[in-house]
Amino acid sequence: MPVRIPDSHSTAGAAYTYIVRAASCVFGAALEPIMSFTQPPASAHLSPPGVSLPKVTMPALAEMKRQGKPISALTAYDYPTARLADEAGIDLILVGDSLAMVVLGHENTLAVTVDEMLHHTRAVHRAVRRALVVADMPFGSYHGAIAEALSSAVRFVKEAGAEAVKIEGPRVELVRALVEAEIPVVGHLGLTPQSVHRMGGYRVQARTAEAARRLRADALALAQAGAGAIVLEGVPREAAAEITAALPIPTIGIGAGPGCDGQILVFHDLVNLTFAPPAKFVRRYADAAALFRSAIERYREDVEHRAFPSDAESYHLPARQAMGAAAPDADFDSDNAVVNRDAFEDWTN
Ligand code: KIV
Repeated sequence: MPVRIPDSHSTAGAAYTYIVRAASCVFGAALEPIMSFTQPPASAHLSPPGVSLPKVTMPALAEMKRQGKPISALTAYDYPTARLADEAGIDLILVGDSLAMVVLGHENTLAVTVDEMLHHTRAVHRAVRRALVVADMPFGSYHGAIAEALSSAVRFVKEAGAEAVKIEGPRVELVRALVEAEIPVVGHLGLTPQSVHRMGGYRVQARTAEAARRLRADALALAQAGAGAIVLEGVPREAAAEITAALPIPTIGIGAGPGCDGQILVFHDLVNLTFAPPAKFVRRYADAAALFRSAIERYREDVEHRAFPSDAESYHLPARQAMGAAAPDADFDSDNAVVNRDAFEDWTN
């Protein structure tokens, strides 16, 4: 998790428009209208017939390491961004506890709860077809008894569709217990943001040869306990490269240089939705803040100048149905006049 000033208003938004058919129209004329609403039907996201997506699994990540294929990973916390990441071919989508900061506006990752993480993991799971979905176990959910940690992890798999969980620190016994319970685990070593108070801030870790050797020993222990991959965060690139070479499982780096088997970034860092200067390791690929700000400002101006909506964006009464006319609404079909998001008809004349 990158070092950042908390951002309180950073929830990304997105909308989808779908064209569907409606069966009838209010005033009796047979129409085949265009319908637009903001939530796609579940069926809209199925692969075309005959196309099967090669699902990314934990063993597939190990195979990518063997073949020297870089693993792309990104965080996502909601349906639209997870769907975009998946459709863009990202291999691993992490529902990171960074959501506490970048989505919920907390100062650090410590406050987010299991229930909040489950809520967002479900949304991501609904969007993803190909990528491996990994859920972060939040602070406090795995720091006590192993049995308690196990039952929290089971919830992520059973209730939210996670295919692996991520835990911070060299918790070898817990990793072993999770793997024995058939729950794949991604470890997380180096700068572990849930240890912010112990570390005294977000600091690059393993800066001496001795500390780097300890980190390598921890990584090997996690691999031996059955972890399927390890996130290495905030460590010198030389240490990360050596650890990567020593490990039989993939490393996924964030602020750990180019020598890891894969890379992960926080979605909001990638597209500039963090309201803070980026950390050194972040590369901004887009300026969503500028894009969204300008769209919202133009919308507000249009509303204020009565330039939105236009006539073309309005529904019309048929010419024969002037509101002042005395004629009864003989052909008004009240059943079809119900306006709701699932059946919103186009009343064009
Ligand atoms: O919560 C998070 O976003 C992470 C990082 C590894 C990206 O743990």
